Amino acid sequence: MSTDSEPPPLRIRVYSDLEAPAPLRRQIEEILLASANPRRVPDESSRTAFLDRWLTPYLTVYPEQVLLALDEAEGGQVLGVLNGCLDSAGAEVFRDLHPYYRLFADLYQAYPAHFHVNCHPDHRGRGVGSCLVEAFVALCRDGGLPGVHLVTAPGLRNVGFYRRNGFTEAVERSEAGHSYLFLGQQLAVD
Ligand SMILES: CC(C)(COP(=O)(O)OP(=O)(O)OC[C@H]1O[C@@H](n2cnc3c(N)ncnc32)[C@H](O)[C@@H]1OP(=O)(O)O)[C@@H](O)C(=O)NCCC(=O)NCCS
Repeated sequence: MSTDSEPPPLRIRVYSDLEAPAPLRRQIEEILLASANPRRVPDESSRTAFLDRWLTPYLTVYPEQVLLALDEAEGGQVLGVLNGCLDSAGAEVFRDLHPYYRLFADLYQAYPAHFHVNCHPDHRGRGVGSCLVEAFVALCRDGGLPGVHLVTAPGLRNVGFYRRNGFTEAVERSEAGHSYLFLGQQLAVD
């Protein structure tokens, strides 16, 4: 694990712009699986189901909204991935995949875009995640969107990370015994 707190020399790339995405896809999958609770992905079929839920829809339906942080010094190794979607209300693919998706649907007009971000376990805490979030917020701003959001859970360590990155509008709701935390950032519209 790196002990360097400075971000490595990064290049942020859009997945749909990659000329040869196949080898990088394997690295992306490993990053997502490394962020999963190991008890939830004990075997190949549960790993496939996990990726079908959290990764495949983004790569297949919204590849131009998936951002990768590549390490320029390490031959382009993937250090982090942000799966984004600029139109949460219109993205029917997610409605049945995530229990919380309908729970916060009334907020999608004000915060249309959403994302998930994960970094390689050896490269966390070095600013890679912040660079990805910053790039996605810029994409949302360029698209003239009024806001962007993510959903996490209260009490997780990543809540501080999101708040520091400007996601300060918090809405907590529960469903089926699970608590979810919506964090939104309003964007200035010209
Ligand atoms: C959350 C995450 C994307 C942030 O990216 P990052 O490059 O590590 O973040 P930065 O260096 O820009 O900012 C540092 C913050 O990241 C978070 N972070 C760093 N290492 C972490 C780790 N091992 N686990 C969880 N969060 C971590 C913390 O919030 C940290 O701030 P803190 O030290 O004050 O608690 C990344 O740490 C990660 O992939 N964590 C595990 C998976 C996760 O929680 N994903 C979000 C799902 S909603």
